[in-house]
Amino acid sequence: MASNWVGELIYEGKAKRVYRVNNEFLVMEFKDEVTAFDGVRKEYAPGKGRLAAAQTAFFMRLLDKYGIRNHLVDWDGDRKILVRSLKMIPIEVIVRNYAYGSFLRRMPLVRPMTKFSRPLVEFHLKSDELHDPLITMDDIVEAGLASREQINEIVNTALSVNSILSELMISRGLVLVDFKLEFGVDKSNNVVLADELSGDTMRVLINGRHLDKELFRKGASAMDLVKAYEELNKLLGIP
Ligand code: ADP
Ligand code: CDP
Repeated sequence: MASNWVGELIYEGKAKRVYRVNNEFLVMEFKDEVTAFDGVRKEYAPGKGRLAAAQTAFFMRLLDKYGIRNHLVDWDGDRKILVRSLKMIPIEVIVRNYAYGSFLRRMPLVRPMTKFSRPLVEFHLKSDELHDPLITMDDIVEAGLASREQINEIVNTALSVNSILSELMISRGLVLVDFKLEFGVDKSNNVVLADELSGDTMRVLINGRHLDKELFRKGASAMDLVKAYEELNKLLGIP
């Protein structure tokens, strides 16, 4: 238990507070809050912070076992994780197995929940003001956000993460619809998987029922969302 981690608050986002411990490490504290529509809907969600931190620690540790380099160092058993401090690449990498969400809004010719012939990987610029627009690989390179080699590595990692998580979900009777990843670069210029992996950043179904933030987007209460995260953790054996 490492709850004596201390640091200066350097950032407060929608889901987490970030504290700097030193040059090398950050603490991320998951908030007992849920937001949707770029922060327009926001509610107190007691217990959610711990559940999302537990999910993130569980998935990052699992990915680490498969050789996927990620920022997790430790979890305090509550709402905080200790991570390696990275220079973040300001893009959201989305992997999709089934047609849902913003995919359907831009491509209405595909029926909802159609399974793709192979997983799709797409990039969005991280910008609340612009509502995270879809961008191309060329856009990323031309803007100097990442090199072509780094983008290729990110795509390969995102697809590996998808295989690992999808297999786990299937073994528990769950369906992984889609998810979002973020990456950063460490001091040795390695691309490292960062941020969180939780019900806030993925869509996961049990018998067609969401165990993820989509519930809240569709109007469920924060308490119902917390119950769904508890159910997801139980199914995955997350403490
Ligand atoms: P948002 O900024 O989207 O509201 P959060 O509330 O989740 O998001 O805030 C967490 C912030 O920390 C995000 O900006 C994310 O990109 C950043 N971040 C995640 N992992 C790391 C890391 N290892 N090093 C530095 N920054 C990170
Ligand atoms: O949520 P919305 O329909 O607007 O977006 P999407 O592009 O269909 O989202 C794809 C996946 O990425 C979902 O699992 C979202 O939960 C996740 N996502 C996220 O975690 N953060 C974002 N800013 C956008 C999407």
